[in-house]
Amino acid sequence: MPPKHKHPIALAFQDASATASKSSNKISNKIKELNWRQQYSQAEYYPFKYDPDTRDVTKDSANEKKLAVEVTVKQRQCGEQDGTGTGAVVWNAAHCLSSYMCSKGVEKVKGRRVVDLGTGTGLTGIVAVKLGAEDVCFTDVGRVLELTRENVEGNLEGEEGGRVRTEEYWWGSGTLGRGRFGCVLVADCILPKLYPMEPLVEAIDELMVEEGGVCLVSYEHRTWFEFDPRERFLELCEVKGLQAVRVPEQDMVEVAEDIIIWEVTRK
Ligand SMILES: C[S@@+](CC[C@H](N)C(=O)[O-])C[C@H]1O[C@@H](n2cnc3c(N)ncnc32)[C@H](O)[C@@H]1O
Repeated sequence: MPPKHKHPIALAFQDASATASKSSNKISNKIKELNWRQQYSQAEYYPFKYDPDTRDVTKDSANEKKLAVEVTVKQRQCGEQDGTGTGAVVWNAAHCLSSYMCSKGVEKVKGRRVVDLGTGTGLTGIVAVKLGAEDVCFTDVGRVLELTRENVEGNLEGEEGGRVRTEEYWWGSGTLGRGRFGCVLVADCILPKLYPMEPLVEAIDELMVEEGGVCLVSYEHRTWFEFDPRERFLELCEVKGLQAVRVPEQDMVEVAEDIIIWEVTRK
């Protein structure tokens, strides 16, 4: 019979080795982070590349073909000064969401009608088209949409270009209709310092189809002294009958301590 309880020294070793492996994971994530984070944040063009041969293997389930995705979007560094807004550059949360869609998240976008909220440069929506979304509606407000259109046209031609449209859409305004999308993408749009969160959750609720719809929300944490944006987001989802489940770290390609991806579905 094995002993019922482990010896305290064995337990201490177990704890120590778990702590050591956690810290070595943290260090290796930090090193990897240096390779992608902020690398192109100041550049005119932001190249996003997902190569399944050098990452975890993603296969196209229909034909077992590996999917490699390469997209380059133009940025405008002066967006926040010239009225183009915050969406004129690619944010870290958009990069993380794009890689997640290329790996474990591929089935959430493939074959679905997708809407990209606050798309900015359009990176996340463009990646969704490349991964086989049925169609993608790129949405944002104001002048940034000129940049979105330029990037969509520059990256998607022929058949891919036929699966897209770009629309001005204010979150929760009802102008896109109700329950039309099987997948809603949200990257770095939870910023209570700049934008109220209620309309964003209203938009998710408004646009996501009732059955089997999913919303992928990529969030970068920035301290906000009035409340914790993560908790408020979860509370607002709860009120709408939505549940947000955090994607485990091991399922994310790019991991950073301050970036979370949630999969939001109806309860
Ligand atoms: C920080 S940017 C994120 C851009 C892009 N998703 C990314 O992560 O690279 C936030 C975006 O949300 C858009 N936005 C803010 N409030 C909005 C609202 N009420 N309705 C629609 N879009 C909004 C902004 O115009 C901006 O493009």
